Formats: sequence, structure tokens, C-alpha cells
Amino acid sequence: MIRLGVIGHGLRISGLIKDCWREVEPDLRVVGIVDPDEAGARSRLDECDRQTIVFYKDLKSMVGKAKLDALAIGTRCNLHAPYAAAAAQYGLPLYLEKPVAVSMEQAVTVEKAFNKSKSEVVVSFPLRVSPLCSLARGHIAGGAVGTPEHILAVNYVPYGSVYFNSAYRDFRVTQGLFLQKATHDLDYMSYLVGSPIVRVAAMATRGRVFGGKRPADLVCSACDEAGRCFESPESYNRTNSGETLGDGDKCAFGEDIGSPETGMNEDSSSALVEFASGMHGVYTQVFYSRGAAAARGATISGYHGTVSFDWYTGEIKRVRHHEPSTDPEQPGKDLSHFGGDGELAHDFIDLIRGKGRTRTTVWAGIQSIYACLAAKESSETGRFVDVKQVADTAHRALYAYEEEQAKGTL
Ligand SMILES: NC(=O)c1ccc[n+]([C@@H]2O[C@H](COP(=O)([O-])OP(=O)(O)OC[C@H]3O[C@@H](n4cnc5c(N)ncnc54)[C@H](O)[C@@H]3O)[C@@H](O)[C@H]2O)c1
Repeated sequence: MIRLGVIGHGLRISGLIKDCWREVEPDLRVVGIVDPDEAGARSRLDECDRQTIVFYKDLKSMVGKAKLDALAIGTRCNLHAPYAAAAAQYGLPLYLEKPVAVSMEQAVTVEKAFNKSKSEVVVSFPLRVSPLCSLARGHIAGGAVGTPEHILAVNYVPYGSVYFNSAYRDFRVTQGLFLQKATHDLDYMSYLVGSPIVRVAAMATRGRVFGGKRPADLVCSACDEAGRCFESPESYNRTNSGETLGDGDKCAFGEDIGSPETGMNEDSSSALVEFASGMHGVYTQVFYSRGAAAARGATISGYHGTVSFDWYTGEIKRVRHHEPSTDPEQPGKDLSHFGGDGELAHDFIDLIRGKGRTRTTVWAGIQSIYACLAAKESSETGRFVDVKQVADTAHRALYAYEEEQAKGTL
């Protein structure tokens, strides 16, 4: 039996436990939880955990009493870093939700804590380990493009209303969508091209689509414009957009979302990024796209070829520039986070069992945050911003194709 302790047993981590981790390891039990909302956290437990679960007031007492084999941190964004830094001292395998930090101070604290820690961490970066991204990385490492010279990555989010009507609308918790969203994308971009981001210029537009002057805390059921509003349950049903509104979700045009002056999530944002290898790339994320406008993926090119893929179509294409051929492949779609959550489940269970190593290290999580923080700062100041780098040794292990090839994971 694996004895798991959870900090913040919310929607995301409880879903992973029930749908992914238990599939890999049926004998996993949640034996301890730290969460101030005991009733809510308990309601999200599987039946097999309800009999034996113990709630603890803090991490220290849970680790002291629950005889844990592993820890998982699933709180909202701004609490990941303080809990992770505190967890580092216990040396237990740790599953850590992203973003691993939302400020420079938090990121540096996490880096320091893990520099002295025996804990190995699986950061929740499903895109990096998804079958499509792994295939692309294998092609690139195998010379499909020659030396990578450019990457274009896009994220046209078809469920973007969640960043304006649900708890994610709270800018104090998210610190904006470079940190909340692009942490995945800047991570997999660096991973694919085998080099960290060292400099960023970014722009963000806010308050042009979402946000506005509607009263604070307004909900659709109390709004006389709901019938005409595109961000209402009526409209979502009519257009079959796949968007939903949960109990308590608020108006996406409410004044309580914040403003460009006070801070709010962006409607869209873009970053021009320079890599340590000397190549450059572009990343763009758009939060008001819907339905078939959905796109998430990248195009990586070099003198000898181009590799491009999209997680929504599930297709990857390899073009040889100097030979008359293209190779479309479709390794699968419609999986949880494009198959990445299943891969991370195997990584975490193998790590706990001592049978494998993490592919999404805490260093990858921190390095991505340093790049996201640079993008945020650049979008606020209009200047190029240098990206802080995690320690050298950690870096080399992060991006070296050779190490992965030697381990047989490519
Ligand atoms: N990796 C991914 O692809 C992915 C996907 C979805 C969500 N997420 C991340 O998961 C995180 C959680 O999202 P969610 O939708 O599950 O949120 P949630 O609100 O459902 O869960 C958060 C939980 O933390 C608890 N909590 C609040 N304060 C706490 C405290 N001081 N100590 C311990 N627990 C506390 C809450 O009661 C709740 O149970 C977010 O940061 C989000 O970015 C990641």
C-alpha cells in the first residue's frame, strides 16, 4: 500500500488521484489531508479513503503522525511555493502542482529549499511528457530539423472564460496568465529545443474583452442580461462551445475582476524569447477563442527541416526541407491533458516505488517560473528582461538530449 498525504485536496488533485494515479496503483490510499475546507476535501475522496482519512492542522503534524510514503500539493497557485519549501525538509517523493511559485521571492525560496533536499519532485507539467511532445522531442533530438533555429508556439484556449468567471479570476492568487498558463508552454518549448530561455520581451492586453463595470459578485441567475450575454449558460448551450459555468461562478465582465491598473488576468499575451543556444522563438496565448479555434502546439524549424504538432488535432508533421517528403503521424488525442496526466501518474508511482526518476523536475518548474516572471515584468515595463537561471548542474540535466538518450527515455 502507498500512503499518500495531500495538502489542498481540491478538484485537480482529487481528480488526478481518482482518475490517473489509482489506475496505475490501485493500492494507493489518501491517509492524511491538510485542508481548511474539511467538508469539501472529504466530499472529493474516493469511497476507499473515506473510512481511514485523518485531517491534520498542518504539514508538520501530518508528516509526524501519518507514516507517509509520499506527498502531493494541490492548493491554489500562491500556496504551492510555501508548502513545497516546507515539504522539502522531509525528503519524501512530492507531486507539486504548477505554477511552482508566483513571485521571484517564492521561486528563490523553493530553489534554495530543494538545493538541500533529498525529495524528488514530479511537477505537474503534463504537456512536456505527453506522447505528442515526446515524439516531437525524439524527432528533433534525432536530427529532424538539423540544429533547432526557431520555435513558434501557440495556445488558443477554448475554455478561457474560466480565468474570468471562476476562482482563477483572482489576480492576487494567479499573478496573471504568464504564470498561470504559460508556465506549461515555456517549459515544453525549452525542453523541445534543448536550451533554457535567457531573455524575454513580452506584451499583454488586458481589460479589452473581459472585465468591466458590471457589479461585483454578479451571477448569471441574478442578471437581467443573461439571455443576451455570450458568457451565460444560455449562450454556452446554444453554441455548444463546451464552456460551462459552475455554482458560484461570477460575471466575466465584473468590476471585481480588477483592472489593467490594479492588476487582472490578460485577454491575450505574447512573448518573444531568446534561448541560451542563440536561437529565438515566439509564444502567444489567447483566452477568448472558442470551439474549433482551439489550437495548442508548436512549429520547430532548422535549416534541414520543420517539425510541427497540435495537441487538439493530435497530429505531428515532420517535413524534410531538402527531400520531397512529409510524415504526418497521429499518436492519439482526447486523453487527459493529451495523455500527459497518465504519463505523470506512472512517473510519480514509479518514483515512490523507487523504480524510476522524475521527468518534470523541480528545476524545470522553477526555471519555467523565472521565464514567466521575466515575461510578466517585460509586459509591465516594455523592456527586454534577462531570465534568472537555476544552478548550473541542475540545468545541464534539464535539457541534455544525450542524458535522456543514455537513459533510454527518448
Ligand atoms: N497541471 C495542470 O495541468 C493543472 C490543471 C488544473 C489545475 N491546476 C492547478 O491546480 C491548482 C488547484 O486548482 P483546483 O482547481 O484544484 O483548485 P481548488 O480550489 O479546487 O483546490 C484547492 C484546494 O486547496 C484548499 N486550500 C485552501 N487553502 C489552503 C491552505 N491554506 N492549506 C491547504 N489547503 C488549502 C482548498 O480548500 C481546496 O480544497 C491550481 O494552482 C491550478 O493552477 C493544474
